[in-house]
Amino acid sequence: MRHPPDLPQLDDQQFDAIAALAYRECGLKLEHEKKLMVQSRLRHRLRALNLDSFSSYSEHIASRVGFDEHRLMISALTTNVSQFFREAHHFRLLSDRLMPLFRQRIQENERIRIWSAGCSKGQEPYSIAMHLLRSEPKLATADFKILGTDIDPSVVAQARTAQFTSLELHGVSTEDIGNFTVSCGDGQSSRRMCDDLTRIVSVNELNLFDDWPMRFAFDAIFCRNVVIYFDQSKQTQLWPRFNRALTTTGMLFLGHSERVLSPQAHGFRSVGPTTYVKCDDARVWSQ
Ligand SMILES: C[S@@+](CC[C@H](N)C(=O)[O-])C[C@H]1O[C@@H](n2cnc3c(N)ncnc32)[C@H](O)[C@@H]1O
Repeated sequence: MRHPPDLPQLDDQQFDAIAALAYRECGLKLEHEKKLMVQSRLRHRLRALNLDSFSSYSEHIASRVGFDEHRLMISALTTNVSQFFREAHHFRLLSDRLMPLFRQRIQENERIRIWSAGCSKGQEPYSIAMHLLRSEPKLATADFKILGTDIDPSVVAQARTAQFTSLELHGVSTEDIGNFTVSCGDGQSSRRMCDDLTRIVSVNELNLFDDWPMRFAFDAIFCRNVVIYFDQSKQTQLWPRFNRALTTTGMLFLGHSERVLSPQAHGFRSVGPTTYVKCDDARVWSQ
């Protein structure tokens, strides 16, 4: 195969070293067929660092001064595709199963917490916030928070702006746009989430394979279209951690092509497509 003469080429050995680092540091499983994608995405990093070959890049990331590059490399390798209100059935389950509990909590002034793990630019946590506030406006003043986390610093920075282009807002109804967003006032069609929503949603950088600093349990964890990039052994590390991070009535939502294999072995029971509750609590939901 002929290569454009000036573009740096990634050889197999360099690819293997990068894939091993991505797997070790953030669980990303990069099969060999992803080599061209990795090469193309990392060429931007080479340009940014003014390096002309992947061998110099490999030396850089292996060096002490290149340690910070790991984050940027991972950022270039992650897939951040997201959309508002993906997988409507999860939102129905939120209303049917968790909303009654949340109403009780509001009355008793108790905390309500939701985690969007792997939240990309914020479409997921803001969808959850809009959906819940639409049916229970009292949540705006309750002890209700949604935490969004992602390993990729660039999407975290964007999620924190709470701004979305009209293209990104695809899937949000005209009514929700009117009720929950404000114009950015920049003459463009971008909109910003309203203060009621930004007070509820906060976004932080977090690698799911690092320690989790959160010290409270969640009523729902959305980790959708994230573990699909991990192999079984990495996924299996996460299930018991998600289980411990949930309240006794908490629910775990995964993406449409993701499953907890042997859920009971990890303390879960399936209560709907890609939806799980804690085993000891499954009896509450089956009544
Ligand atoms: C395809 S997006 C899914 C976004 C959203 N959950 C959804 O379903 O629309 C996957 C996100 O997971 C993040 N991610 C990948 N590996 C991660 C890790 N080890 N820790 C935290 N986030 C990770 C990526 O940066 C990316 O933003």
